Amino acid sequence: MKPLRKVVLPVAGLGSRFLPATKAIPKEMLPVVDKPLIQYIVEEAAEAGITDIILVTHSDKSAIENHFDKRFELESELIRRGKTDLLQLKRSTTPSTVRIISVRQPQALGLGHAVLCAEPVIGDEPFAVMLPDVLMYHPQRNCLTQMVEVYNRTHTSIIALEEVNPEDVKKYGIADVKGNDLRIAGMVEKPEVDQAPSNLSIVGRYIFTPRIMEILRETQPGSGGEIQLTDAMQALLEYEVMFGFLFDGISYDCGDKQGFLQATVEFALRDKHLSDDFRRWLKPFAAALD
Ligand code: G1P
Repeated sequence: MKPLRKVVLPVAGLGSRFLPATKAIPKEMLPVVDKPLIQYIVEEAAEAGITDIILVTHSDKSAIENHFDKRFELESELIRRGKTDLLQLKRSTTPSTVRIISVRQPQALGLGHAVLCAEPVIGDEPFAVMLPDVLMYHPQRNCLTQMVEVYNRTHTSIIALEEVNPEDVKKYGIADVKGNDLRIAGMVEKPEVDQAPSNLSIVGRYIFTPRIMEILRETQPGSGGEIQLTDAMQALLEYEVMFGFLFDGISYDCGDKQGFLQATVEFALRDKHLSDDFRRWLKPFAAALD
């Protein structure tokens, strides 16, 4: 089995849940404190040892590629003004160990279709998929790092799972798991609560064996009329075992306003430059709420 070197980031979506903020700015560029969502994801991938980051993007979303590119005029201006601290921040957007590759998803045909668009770059290698909407926090070992450790033992596909409230199961892919090793028995995309096999949601981090691409080529539109990654994973179970993974850490669904706000507050409280002043304001403010 080849080593895991590549990650697919599907970033071609419309971002309609955050309109009007996302009318001219990709949702992946919305900042949590001082970094866009996509940068947290790229940093998580780099820390997990990934070297090739494949953006599956759209012509309207060039701001994402620009963010990870050099900006010669800005750099020379910062040098001219002697602002070396800002220069360092600007240069640090792309970790030195990764390269960013982009492919296009010409039509929004679903998450499964987005992953399939990366097939020419993935070839016959295992790969990860990270959804940039979902921020994962752990003070030492980030989510993808923890999953890579499991993958290096099992060499199977690994899916991050998280418990959700029953009323929320219809927002997510939901998995049916068996045994202490969380072997996946089935999964369904956005079920009604009475049809859901559990309350374990698929949370936005995946590691796949290359066979998923063969299956995606044959996958027909499912929930919402879109080609669903969850349906392809269900089909993969006919050929290979797959394990669920419960992340030891905190996740934030930043595709949702509530999750985005929680991430903003909690990341600000963790920021060593901001936390003291922010906490001083937040504590009495929160205490005064009814
Ligand atoms: C996607 C996946 C779903 C997963 C979710 C996690 O749905 O299709 O299985 O649970 O991401 O955020 P979306 O949020 O794109 O509708």
